[in-house]
This record gives sequence, C-alpha cells and structure tokens, in this order.
Amino acid sequence: MAKDFDTMENSNPSSNPSIHDVSDPRRRVVLQGGVGALVSGVMAPWLAACATTPATSGPLLGFKAISTDAGDALRVPEGYVARAFAPWGEPIGVAGNIPDWRHDASNSAADQAVQMGMHHDGLHYYPLDGSKRGLLVMNHEYTDDGLLHPDGMKTWSSEKTMKSQNAHGVSVIEVQIDDGGRWQMVRPSRYARRFTAATPFAIGGPAAGHSMMKTAADPAGRLALGTLNNCASGQTPWGTYLSGEENFAFYFRAGDNLDAHQRRWGLRKEPFYPWYTTDERFDATKHGNEPNRFGWVVEIDPMDPSSTPIKRTALGRAAHEGAWIAITKDGRAVVYSGEDARFEYIYKFVSRDKIAPGGGNVTKAQANRELLDHGTLYVGRFDADGSGRWLPMVHGQGPLTAANGFADQGEVVIKARQASDALGGTKMDRPEWLAIDQKAGEVYCTLTNNSSRGRPNMPGVDAANPRANNSMGGVISWKEDGDFDGTSFKWSHLVLAGDPANERAEAKGNVKGDIFGCPDGLVLDARGVLWIQTDAHATQMYKGEFKNIGNNQMLACDRTTGEIRRFLTGPINCEITGATLTPDMTTMFINVQHPGETPSDRSDPADPGKYSRWPDYKPGGRPRSATVVIRKRDGGVIGT
Ligand code: FEO
Ligand code: CA
Ligand code: CA
Ligand code: CA
Repeated sequence: MAKDFDTMENSNPSSNPSIHDVSDPRRRVVLQGGVGALVSGVMAPWLAACATTPATSGPLLGFKAISTDAGDALRVPEGYVARAFAPWGEPIGVAGNIPDWRHDASNSAADQAVQMGMHHDGLHYYPLDGSKRGLLVMNHEYTDDGLLHPDGMKTWSSEKTMKSQNAHGVSVIEVQIDDGGRWQMVRPSRYARRFTAATPFAIGGPAAGHSMMKTAADPAGRLALGTLNNCASGQTPWGTYLSGEENFAFYFRAGDNLDAHQRRWGLRKEPFYPWYTTDERFDATKHGNEPNRFGWVVEIDPMDPSSTPIKRTALGRAAHEGAWIAITKDGRAVVYSGEDARFEYIYKFVSRDKIAPGGGNVTKAQANRELLDHGTLYVGRFDADGSGRWLPMVHGQGPLTAANGFADQGEVVIKARQASDALGGTKMDRPEWLAIDQKAGEVYCTLTNNSSRGRPNMPGVDAANPRANNSMGGVISWKEDGDFDGTSFKWSHLVLAGDPANERAEAKGNVKGDIFGCPDGLVLDARGVLWIQTDAHATQMYKGEFKNIGNNQMLACDRTTGEIRRFLTGPINCEITGATLTPDMTTMFINVQHPGETPSDRSDPADPGKYSRWPDYKPGGRPRSATVVIRKRDGGVIGT
C-alpha cells in the first residue's frame, strides 16, 4: 500500500476566474525587505508572558550554513548538537502502563495506545517550569502500516486496525532537562496522554448537532470518535493546542457511487487504509455522514488531563494543515488556516468575543472554552494588483443561500470548499504552515508545490500562484490593511523556492542563499528568524530538478535581508516538520517524519530499514519518526 500523501487529489473543479491574463504573474514576485521588517525582540504576547526575549547581540543568523546532504544522518551547524528522542513506540509514561518498545514491532494495539504514535508532525512546548520542564504536545499525522506491524500488511485484522488507529492522533508528554543538559521524558507523568482515531471529541460551533453530522452511533451529532491525519499545530494565547485534521478522505471507503459532495471532498472508491474491513464506521457507503465529522481544527487543553478535546467547526471544514492565531488590538482571536490540497484555499476566522483573562479557580483555557465557536469565517482572494480580500462565509450572504445548497451556517462550514468555490476564493498551490508576525501585522504561508497547475483542464497560473507545474513551491506573505480583523490586505511573495542551476525557468526560483524546494513547516521565532522546513517527496528527491537539493532540511530566513541559510539536513527520505523553542530559546525541538519512506510497498518487511535506519541504526531495524532536540554547545540561543 503506497501512501503517497503528497500526491494530493485535485477535487476543485470550480471555475473561479483565473487572473493570469490580466497580470504578469512574476510582477508580484518581490523579496520583502525593510518594509514592515521585524525588529529584533518582537515576541508573541502569549510567549512574552512566559519569558522575555533573550538579549542577543550580533547578526540575526549567527551560524555557519551547512551543505546539502543525501546521507542517512541528521546534521546541524558547527557548535550545535542534535539528538533524537521520543521516537514512535516509546512509552509516553501513563502511570502503571509503560510498555517497552520492541524493535520487531510486535507491540500490541493496547501498547500503542500508551506509546508515541507514528509520523511526528507539528509540536509545541508548554512550560511547566520555564525552560527546564514542560509538556511537548505533538501530532502523529499518519501511519506506515508496512512498518507498524511485524508482517506489514500481508494480512489484516481487527487488532491491526486498532493498532493503526492508536498510532494516529496527538501525544502529550512531559519532558525535562537534566543537569547534564540532556532532555528526557518524565515517566510516569500525570499529563501523559494520547488522543487517537478512537478518542471521543466533542463538536463545537455551527455544525454541532447538524443533520449532516448525525450518525447511528451519535444521533445527536455532537460527539465524534477520533481525530485523523493531524498535520500542523498552533498554540493559543490561552494555553491550548490546535491541531489540523488534514487528509481525512483517505480513510473512508466511498464505493462506486460517489455523490457531488463526496467527490468535492476527495473521497475515494477504496481508501488507503483497510480499517473499514473491521471497523464499519469507516465505510461511508454505510455511514455516509461519518466523513463530515473530520476535516476540522481540534482544540486540546494539555494542562488539564481530564479535559474533553473539541472540534471547532466555526473555523470551517478543510484538509486543514493546521491553525495559527493572531490577536486584534481589542483582544479578539484571529485564526488563519490553509488547506493543503491542490487548488484549495486560505481561511481566516475572527472571533466574536475577546480573549478572556481567566482568574481565581478558572484557568485561561477554561475561560476561553467557547471562544472559537463564535465568529466570522472568511476565504482569501488574492488579486492580481497585489491586494486581496477576505470574503465572508456567512449563510444568507451572497451566494451562500438555501437555494444554492447552503441551508444554514452549519452547512456552510461543513461544505466550506463548495462555499469557497461559490464566493470565488483563490485556488492556491497547497497552503501548508502559516507564521504570524503579531507586531508587524504580517502573515506568511508556505505554498509547498502544485504539479497540476497549468496542466490541461486544470487552473492556470495566476499572480499569487505564478508557476505552471510548480515543483518547488514558495512562501507568500500578506499584511492586513489595518488590524488583523481587516477584510483587505496587500500580498507579495517572500521567496520562490528552487535551484538556480535548473534549466526550467519555473524551477529556478529566486532564493537568496541556500537552495531548497517544497517548503512546508514555517515557524517565526521570538528573535524574528523565520524557520523554513521542507517536504520534498521521495518520488522527486535526488534526481531531475531536485538533484542538487538532497535530503529535506530546515533553513533560517532573515526577512530584512531576504537571506535564507541552511541550518539542518535530515536523514534519507524524511521530512522535517514542526519547531518549538523553550522560552529562553536555548533548546529547539523539531520533528523528523517518515525517515526512509519510499513510494514502494513495504508489505514485505524482510528489510524494513532498507532506505533509512534512523535514528536507531539497528541492523535489520525499522526507521522511526522522532523528535530531535537541538542545543548550542555553549548553551546559547538557537540561531545565534
Ligand atoms: Fe501534512 Fe500538508 O502536510
Ligand atoms: Ca506538512
Ligand atoms: Ca508529508
Ligand atoms: Ca507537505
């Protein structure tokens, strides 16, 4: 079973006007510099509450760039050390239930429910004791079932379905640094918790209780089991964790007779996962509303181990990469989110209410428990002149009427793709992570690639997506007109990724500094470094246009000069994703996902580590996704 999650479906047939014929697509390609440039020392206010930005002198990028690499190792610059920990299968530390990982993958489904999931993705650090002890909360995007079971996928069983479901979701682990400067998991920990594809999630917002959300097992339509394909993550100013349910469509069997709604959401005759063969919930021919209960941003309160996680439907349904928060001047939350699929959209949600402070016996997370259930959702339109509009997705306004298939706001959010088609949002080149400069009012978004752009019967180039057969991707940015709740903005490209040695103009890019392709993870640190992480797929790496680029990597961008400098390279066929720093910025955690993943079927596990044995390097052993902790040898601030 090849699980090529980067071969995203083209399920957007809408004919929103292409604007390439009224604009030179490259006219908007400018490197930002000076204007709105970040002042060193800016810090997201919710982090500022934890610590002050460490005072550093010298240039923003103080490290020496490393070269590209195609070896099976993780490399960082001179003066830095990096170490893998918390890999897939490591017990998370639930008291009384700490099963050891076994290298032959013979751990049971029940073991997996209290062990790290597979395919680590977005992550955030939540301080318990400043920069010495905290929680790491992270997503496990999907599973490679050829590696997950001792005999791969040669046979299938209910136990395998459950193990696969339990290797999905989110992990909360407690970590601390010891006197030797080494981070370890704290086990047992009262915070240790797994959310899987079977954990109950409450449903909040306008889709809660909607007829399209009701199932035989949940006739009220208010409690869904599980979270799926959790990709990127966001951290709220009230201390919770947001996780995006991305490619949920790949889990459901839709059979031969897909309706228009199922087609628009990329459902397939047969799913990538055979779960439905033992868990009927994933057979959409029998449980047609079950897929509607996925594709949401979910909110988790990691500090309260007894809290119920919630799906926030007011933010709209999408193949959500993740969700990122800005704050308006009057204290409301603005959530930006992209949908990582070809020709899909960028969204913004503005909360109705202000962020509540909490106090007394009420934590800030508890005080804001319904904040993301009420507000206005918008889809982005990027116009050729460098301006843009946020188009309100409000039932009854414009085309979003019952006559057009939107009976109420619940149906607008459940059918957010169809609503965006009707409104004329701009079809983007797979929006992945966003990063927000709260002080400058700027937002950045990786557009990872889109090999279908400009193909016959596919949308052509436009100003915001200026490259046909866009193999390399780039980073787009915008600045709201006025506050973050504004309905118009100005946009430009921070960088078009690529290799200057490429013959094809579309793959050259305009990188000032070190070459890269397929940006995905994007994190702005408190000093103003924009960290860019890449996810070129195994099918494209090391050859053709990617022959000079090597393994996936992490680079640091100085937005005032436009320079992009390589900081880290990963092992073979991994992607680099997620980055979070301790408040003192002396430790950075990142994730290495799917080392050794190939386009080939792994159901013959004779040599599961054929392509990568990272991080254990055990003969005959399996590669494992893992978190990597990065420190400076002198204990200094990361990036200096
Ligand atoms: Fe899960 Fe869009 O990367
Ligand atoms: Ca991603
Ligand atoms: Ca990926
Ligand atoms: Ca990706």
